[in-house]
Amino acid sequence: MNTIKQYVTEHKDRLLNELFELLRFPSVSADPKYKEHVLQTADYVAQKLKDAGADNVEVCQTAGYPIVYGEKIIDPTLPTVLTYGHYDVQPPDPLELWKTPPFEPTLRDGKIYARGACDDKGQFYMHVKAFELMMQTNTLPCNIKFMIEGEEEVGSDNLGTFVKANKERLKADVVLISDTSMISMEHPSLETGLRGLSYLEVEVVGPNRDLHSGVYGGAVANPATILAKMIASLHDEDNHITIPGFYDDVLELSADERKALNEAPYDEEEYKTDLDIKEVWGEKGYSTLERTGTRPTLEVNGIWGGYIGEGAKTVLPSKANAKISMRLVPNQHSDKITKLFTEHFTKIAPPYVKVKVTPHHGGEPVVTPTESVAFRAAEKAIEASFGKKPIPTRGGGSIPIVALFEAELGIKTVLMGFGLDSDALHSPNEKYDIFNYYKGIETIPLFHKYFAELSKA
Ligand code: BES
Ligand code: MN
Ligand code: MN
Repeated sequence: MNTIKQYVTEHKDRLLNELFELLRFPSVSADPKYKEHVLQTADYVAQKLKDAGADNVEVCQTAGYPIVYGEKIIDPTLPTVLTYGHYDVQPPDPLELWKTPPFEPTLRDGKIYARGACDDKGQFYMHVKAFELMMQTNTLPCNIKFMIEGEEEVGSDNLGTFVKANKERLKADVVLISDTSMISMEHPSLETGLRGLSYLEVEVVGPNRDLHSGVYGGAVANPATILAKMIASLHDEDNHITIPGFYDDVLELSADERKALNEAPYDEEEYKTDLDIKEVWGEKGYSTLERTGTRPTLEVNGIWGGYIGEGAKTVLPSKANAKISMRLVPNQHSDKITKLFTEHFTKIAPPYVKVKVTPHHGGEPVVTPTESVAFRAAEKAIEASFGKKPIPTRGGGSIPIVALFEAELGIKTVLMGFGLDSDALHSPNEKYDIFNYYKGIETIPLFHKYFAELSKA
């Protein structure tokens, strides 16, 4: 057995128990009631980096939650890998839909169920343990830096400032991130792009107070109805987005690129069965893989207004609200799209309501290079550990830091994720297969090995 496999086998139980310990911290960044827990998680991560052998470990304060930094510089003339991850998680709601509590990690059928199991605790912790492995077996072939943040799930608002202020400290040859998905264990893949994001909240206000729906209904516009109509009008019959200028900057893929993308294994029947839907939906003229990987979209993330409590209450609500996000693709810009949306949404408001649009966070889309030494190292590492060449794919999610690293530090990213789309990220019963966890710990040292080797060549 080789050194890597042997190490993982010998330490199997501890590697899993430590992840369980990490998963027990309810590090929900979106909700202030978890603040103490989020802060404790940062300290825990720092301790684990130290234990694994990192130097200069620091819990770096920001205007929000801290960023955990650590490094091992074995030789300044060797290449440096900057590993990024996030220790914060999404809120666990709706709680009643969890089979076992979100912060009591549970093993069922070889899968770890817990909030953050895949996104991103299970994935970034593989890097901490792979680092430990390389330190313990004396096989660390390059310099390594860790930057694990606590605000990814809320838009990484303070990361820009940190990156700008720490350019020297963060200097590296490549950023390595495990926070994306693979097609499946049988079809290992590497994401080569992420979508950007523009997130905002809208409010439609009608009368100055909630009204009796019998006394006033039919004579005063209902903001909930108006909001629903306005939202419905944002897609046309072909499910194109109707905001003027929305597609102006979109980079269309070449016929060859589209063909390559659609060659990735994908089973529409399985997709539909998994989600219990009769038909897929989306922009006319594009396949599901294209719709999620290469096309911009607009989604309502939440919509509310009026009475939503027990039983019935006859009321014409004074206002209605929605949270709306748009996923962006290369060459679109988050600020511009937010502006276009705001102008359009304000313009289509009928005279009987007032609308307010409040921007939240945003992020820029990215494509990552597939010709680089780092990407080739990732391909080789996956091939060696899975016995199959990885398929390049485009991911639908967003990790705003990737564009930021490129803009501020001039460093490109390799997205070497080990999750699956079916791992229920952001949903109840989020999971991560222990097989993927161990596989990740085994694959990451290979990435470092090949990256160091190929950099020399
Ligand atoms: N890890 C995800 C992003 C992701 C998931 C990329 C799956 C590719 C495949 C990340 O934690 C995330 O959820 N990002 C947010 C954006 C953020 C600004 C809140 C997202 O994509 O909604
Ligand atoms: Mn994530
Ligand atoms: Mn996430």
